[in-house]
Amino acid sequence: MQGGTEHFISNPEYRILVVAPSGRDADLICRLLEDVNLHCAACTSVESACAQMSAPTGAVIVAEEALSPERVVRLAEIIDHQPSWSDFPLILLTIPGVVSASSVQRSLLRRPLGNVLLLERPIRPETLVSTLQNALRARQRQYQLRDQMLQQQQAEQALRQSEKLAVAGRLAASITHEINNPLEAVTNLLYLIETSQDLNSVKEYARLASDELKRVAEITAHTLNFHRQPINPVMVDIPDVIDSVLTLYRQRLKSAGISVEREYDRAPRVLGMSGELRQLFANLIGNAADAMRMGGVLKIRVKGVSARTGANPREAGVRVLVADSGSGIAPQHKKRIFEPFFSTKGNTGTGLGLWVSASIVEKHSGSVQVRSCTNPQNPGTVFSVFLPAEQSQPHLVQGAVAKEQIA
Ligand SMILES: Nc1ncnc2c1ncn2[C@@H]1O[C@H](COP(=O)(O)OP(=O)(O)O)[C@@H](O)[C@H]1O
Ligand SMILES: [Mg+2]
Repeated sequence: MQGGTEHFISNPEYRILVVAPSGRDADLICRLLEDVNLHCAACTSVESACAQMSAPTGAVIVAEEALSPERVVRLAEIIDHQPSWSDFPLILLTIPGVVSASSVQRSLLRRPLGNVLLLERPIRPETLVSTLQNALRARQRQYQLRDQMLQQQQAEQALRQSEKLAVAGRLAASITHEINNPLEAVTNLLYLIETSQDLNSVKEYARLASDELKRVAEITAHTLNFHRQPINPVMVDIPDVIDSVLTLYRQRLKSAGISVEREYDRAPRVLGMSGELRQLFANLIGNAADAMRMGGVLKIRVKGVSARTGANPREAGVRVLVADSGSGIAPQHKKRIFEPFFSTKGNTGTGLGLWVSASIVEKHSGSVQVRSCTNPQNPGTVFSVFLPAEQSQPHLVQGAVAKEQIA
């Protein structure tokens, strides 16, 4: 805080408006204040002071006789509309004399003016100067509060902006991941086509490759229409989806020494987005394969779930277990595996697979649970996904995820 008045004179925010219409009062006051380096402007009327108060002002000095009830209303309007940080200082030079009915009336009149300091005339010059200095110091604190509020607003705005960018970044990364999988599949299929002797298999692989390319086109379209139109869901046969994923991974699983055991019970078809459901199982099977680099067993079980009598029909659907005999998930990692960018695979992992998978399950009003063991005697991980056979359309766009960690 400044001790003298030098700081105030150099800054127009501390300009003092003086309204003293009778005689030479305004000139005298201005000269006195300028002598102590305060920046002053004489106004001929309250109206002219009100007009000037739209520019930054430190304080206003008003002679009481300049205040008619209408002018009090004008001034009060400006005071009422000041910003939350401001408490405008008004110094009123009162008419000298004893307390009378008219002086009481005048004091009632000036009530709406807020932060009013009364100085009774005749005023000693030192009293006026020190009152003004105090008023300007108070004003300085108000300006500091204003600047802090502005800085806070700017910081919040910057945070919102960076959050927006982070979401855009996550989306871009996730789309890259989504597109990468079908491309990887096409590469696998081209390899199979090149090495296969059987014409029927070649045809089948070519059909799968064309499906995968359709998926890329679908993702691109989906990205472009992200906020506009959802792609319509269809009835999906989950065992079919899993088999098509297994076909893509066949070579990879075989070369890692992983055997596959499938057990498919009768299960209802699920209303959903076929491409996304394929993505979901491709992520789970891909992770299982990553965890069994030294070989192992991948068990996939599909079973139908019927709703209990009288229960919510959405309890009916399909449960899929994807179980591997791989490394297992360390207990300290288990809570984090659904977070975006969480990966224990270094440069080879994006950490987006389970995050994307959970959002696909959520979109289908389903739930996903994980159970894992790192004990060398019996290591492994089981992902259990439940997808209801039916769900109301809005759930396919937005729904509540039930991500549960068991064991
Ligand atoms: N079947 C599994 N066995 C062991 N660890 C797994 C398994 N599935 C997922 N994880 C762990 O969860 C992490 C996140 O998986 P994910 O989101 O698919 O990302 P990424 O595969 O790119 O690492 C993996 O890095 C791994 O540590
Ligand atoms: Mg993964």
